[in-house]
Amino acid sequence: MAIFLGFISPTECLSENKSETNGTSNIINAYGREYQSLNGEWNIIIDPNDRGYNDFWKNQKPRNNNEFREYSFDDGYRLNVPGDFNSQMPELKYYEGTVWYGRYFDIEEPQRTDDKRILYFAGVSNVANVYLNGEYIGSHEGGFTPFSFDVTDRLKPSENFIAVAVNNKRKADGIPSMNFDWWNYGGITRDVMLLSVPKKHIVDYFLRLNPNNPSLITIDVEISEPIEGEQIEVSIPEIGANVKLVTNTMGKATGLLNAKKFKRWESGNPKLYEVFLKSRNDTVSEKIGFRTIETKGNKIIMNGVPIFLKGVNLHEEIPQRKGRAFTDADAAMLLHEAKEMGVNFIRLAHYPHNEHIIRMAEQMGLVLWEEIPIWQNIDFGNPKTDSLASNMMSEMIERDKNRASIIMWSVANETWPSEARDKSLLGLIELTREMDNSRLVTAAFNNPYYDRESNCFVLKNDPVAEAVDVIGVNKYIGWYEDWYQSPDSLKWKVLDEKPLIFSEFGGEALYGNHENPDAKWSWSEEYQSQLYRDNLKMFENISNLAGVAPWVMFDFRSPTRFSPQQGFEFNRKGLVSDRGERKQAWYVMKNYYSH
Ligand code: GCU
Repeated sequence: MAIFLGFISPTECLSENKSETNGTSNIINAYGREYQSLNGEWNIIIDPNDRGYNDFWKNQKPRNNNEFREYSFDDGYRLNVPGDFNSQMPELKYYEGTVWYGRYFDIEEPQRTDDKRILYFAGVSNVANVYLNGEYIGSHEGGFTPFSFDVTDRLKPSENFIAVAVNNKRKADGIPSMNFDWWNYGGITRDVMLLSVPKKHIVDYFLRLNPNNPSLITIDVEISEPIEGEQIEVSIPEIGANVKLVTNTMGKATGLLNAKKFKRWESGNPKLYEVFLKSRNDTVSEKIGFRTIETKGNKIIMNGVPIFLKGVNLHEEIPQRKGRAFTDADAAMLLHEAKEMGVNFIRLAHYPHNEHIIRMAEQMGLVLWEEIPIWQNIDFGNPKTDSLASNMMSEMIERDKNRASIIMWSVANETWPSEARDKSLLGLIELTREMDNSRLVTAAFNNPYYDRESNCFVLKNDPVAEAVDVIGVNKYIGWYEDWYQSPDSLKWKVLDEKPLIFSEFGGEALYGNHENPDAKWSWSEEYQSQLYRDNLKMFENISNLAGVAPWVMFDFRSPTRFSPQQGFEFNRKGLVSDRGERKQAWYVMKNYYSH
């Protein structure tokens, strides 16, 4: 029984939040690679006192089975991977701390014996410290983006033992920080794979219509070694497109493809092309869509045509299982329920969702807003927090930059102006645009306010609002705020020179509750649906309205809500209950989107 030696603090990473060891940066399109799945039942040790990190275990030596032992992976609890641990064991429902996951595995021989083997985690919430055959191999912080390690030289043909110390404790300098309105799911929440790639392989690529000349596709490719002169062929057989690129001394290559014959990706016709990238030693492919997205005045323009975003907010939670969503089946349930309501747009709240749901949304023609969990009170100005924010933004863009469905990256949700916040977020906006100038940048603001003199909602003196391409507004008129005037007479003048998406609005209702239909906070379906009708009427006065996204598709779990009206521990702003029952407000939105 291999005993791992933990020796670092549970909630910090050894490195600056990036995966380290062998410097393997993330490999793109992991699911398009040859891989062995490490999903399945793993053994666990629940470690609330973090004893796995102190001397107690450091000095333990492997012992034979009949010796006294105070801990063991063997014959203990087991959890499914992927999956949050909170919803798998009643004892872990509220748990915030360390859970050690451990399992043995043999390696399946790859096609090429001299392959590199990359241990790839699609997501672990929230801090992961990883050990292989008793050796620490690296760590990662951030629960919603992938990380990987080159383990080629660390594997044995059989009986490899992997241990992962997962910690989901909230931290004042974390992202998100100490308080947020969703369940603090912890665990190995997404797929774990052992990839096999050629020693010299294609590690990254980005294809998109050139924002300045959409008759061309700009291509960036990177190979795993900084070798000059390597040829990489990029081809799209369906339309006979083909271009050969040559790497520079950094192992990077750029080039252009003529895009005149391409069908554009759009909601009604989400055209995807099989793209092949071939170097001397490696071939990788995936389906990619091509479209332009820009703003013109206060309109959002896709492929040269103004679009109105008929949206909804979605948490990555499967209501029936009351846990993190992580499979294609989960994605299908969540997305089809949204599509049934008539949406063409989804705000993936409040963190990068798993890749299955993003790729399925793209195949369904759904336009996406994606964000990192900078949610309300963040310790802006703290170097660790700012570095974590940059890492999270980079990892999200690195993973999803080839997804045509994603039209905007959001840098924050409901943060308020301050010197530190402005500096941090303006820096994050700059980083986002440097990494990807082919998409829009946005953020959600709840600081617009009602100005009595002008009978108008305004937003002043917010440099971050000035800096984004599209302004998101979260306002709960009729729920957290009263109607200052009748809905049809309330005026809006919020950054009206740029597009505005009403990125959150709504109120709560318990499905089937019809008590006190006119009373605010009755949690009645009638009050909720009337609130929706009133907000939709108010939206008619927003001259720069480019889209709406009610908060939220499904009732979802939140430890910040604990009252009998809500049926305890649920945020009931869902248009659909956690048992899949459509509330009256769902039909109000379906009707609104049908026009
Ligand atoms: C905020 C926040 C959501 C939250 C919602 C609510 O706007 O962005 O994450 O769930 O309000 O209070 O229900």
